[in-house]
Amino acid sequence: MRIVLLGAPGSGKGTQTDAIIARYGVSTVATGDLLRAEVAAGTELGQRAKPYMDAGELVPFDIVLGMIENGLKTLAATNPKGFMMDGFPRDLAQAEALDKLLAKINQPLDLVLFFEVDYEEIVKRLLGRGRADDNEETIRNRLRVYEEKTAPLIDYYTRKGLLRTVKGSGTIEAIGARIRAVLDEIA
Ligand code: AP5
Repeated sequence: MRIVLLGAPGSGKGTQTDAIIARYGVSTVATGDLLRAEVAAGTELGQRAKPYMDAGELVPFDIVLGMIENGLKTLAATNPKGFMMDGFPRDLAQAEALDKLLAKINQPLDLVLFFEVDYEEIVKRLLGRGRADDNEETIRNRLRVYEEKTAPLIDYYTRKGLLRTVKGSGTIEAIGARIRAVLDEIA
């Protein structure tokens, strides 16, 4: 199974990944987690990425692409059950790069799962979480960036016939059940 989780910051993608991994045995690549690990380790890459993350802007393409290429090739070669991408792609350039990369290794996407959640609910959730970039100003900017750069991917993947929408509000368990209903079809 090869899937992308698509949705605004705080729409609950990360929250659902453990259950998806447990049920379907896929591996995950989450660009936000990879970037935060680089920042925590104080690497050059982390130092370059940090100001963008603090401001809620997208980190430059070259940084993210290098990480994804390495992560994805390793996963595709080591886990026959497939992979799930969380936080990537984030704009059209990343989506096109992903298509090329997956075509090269002959592992096209099966499905893109779009988490649909109301923005006001998202702001409440993120203010309650308290990660370094979860202050109101940065959250609002992340949502602006999402609207401008990431939301067009809904159309992009709809045109490719890959998009499946899941209502992302309600309890974590109820959302998990909706996700299973979609993913069991392709498992
Ligand atoms: P990233 O790490 O991807 O963070 P984000 O965009 O803020 O998205 P989240 O991971 O917070 O959202 P989520 O949907 O996973 O929500 P979660 O499950 O955690 O990116 C961070 C930064 O890194 C970006 O701003 C950018 O700078 C950079 N970056 C990352 N990828 C990049 C890329 N590809 N290109 C360029 N730059 C990139 O849930 C959120 C909260 O809600 C949690 O507290 C959770 O407990 C709660 N919650 C979840 N579900 C529910 C529910 N059903 N009911 C109540 N609360 C819930």
